[in-house]
Amino acid sequence: MEKELEKLKEELKDKLKETKKEADILNIKSEYVGKKSRISELLTSLKDMSVEDKRKYGSLINNTKKELEEIVNKAIENIANQSNVSFDDTLDYDIEVGSLHPITIVAKEVTDILKRMGFTVVQGFEMESEYYNFEALNVPKDHPARDMQDTFYLDNGMLLRTQTSGDQIHSMEKFGAPLRVCSPGRTFRNEDVDASHENTFFQIEGMVIDKGISIESLIYVMKEILREVLHQDVEVRLRPGFFPFTEPSYELDCSCLICGGKGCPTCKHSGWIEIAPGGMVHPNVLRAGGIDPEVYNGFAFGLGLTRIAMMKYKINDIRVLNSGDLRYLENFKIN
Ligand code: DAH
Repeated sequence: MEKELEKLKEELKDKLKETKKEADILNIKSEYVGKKSRISELLTSLKDMSVEDKRKYGSLINNTKKELEEIVNKAIENIANQSNVSFDDTLDYDIEVGSLHPITIVAKEVTDILKRMGFTVVQGFEMESEYYNFEALNVPKDHPARDMQDTFYLDNGMLLRTQTSGDQIHSMEKFGAPLRVCSPGRTFRNEDVDASHENTFFQIEGMVIDKGISIESLIYVMKEILREVLHQDVEVRLRPGFFPFTEPSYELDCSCLICGGKGCPTCKHSGWIEIAPGGMVHPNVLRAGGIDPEVYNGFAFGLGLTRIAMMKYKINDIRVLNSGDLRYLENFKIN
């Protein structure tokens, strides 16, 4: 008996020497001290022993079981201590500090400026209905303006919004007049992707509704945003434009900061970038939002956040922005 118990201890120690994993040690534990282990068997057999043997072996078997348990527990403890070593926080790690994405930065800068001017920031839906994306914005089903904004139509009858302009309607419905809101977000179009076209890009919509609003205020707001975000008095030009949801409509262009106005692929060799279209809100749009155009008027604008980010950080290939490729993106690290 003594020999067998001694052997059990030695065997256990040898086995533990070969193991490094906690899970394996736990298996060994159940093999050597578990319910079906040899030592448990010996303990159970005590009851059938003579009184003399019971006295002789009882405490010996019990003590051996305790010793076996101690040996395994010690091994488990050792493993736990060892694994702590690999998280030694005194080690000198070289941790790269990340930074915000260029579009996130620009979106925050623009919304901060608008918030100072009293605008509320709202967030719309990337999956939108045709009604909010087109119809309520005075773009009926067969209107040619839909061709310019082909998008991804979903099986559930919804679409991926082509513009943040639908949030004009959501906001009028929600807040009524008077109103000052802006809505930054992701927009989509069915585009062939190249250096200046993406199927996924970012815009921010702005809308002011009140009594006696003038176009001068719109131009002021747009110029202010560009001046502050681009950190310079950029040269801008205003052209008449066409959008079904504003009348009159304008296009505010800024001189291309990538080529300095000389002409490059990004500005389609014109020296100018269309960056901030807008205009006075069409009466049909006000009506769709439940606002009486006889009492209120207002302006709206849509800024291309992706374009502004490209101008600000002189990014000449739009694909970089959605690539998720840190080797490119960290070149625009802003702290
Ligand atoms: N949603 C238009 C676009 O994506 C931009 C736009 C033009 C927004 C005029 C407006 C606006 O609010 O008044 O091309």
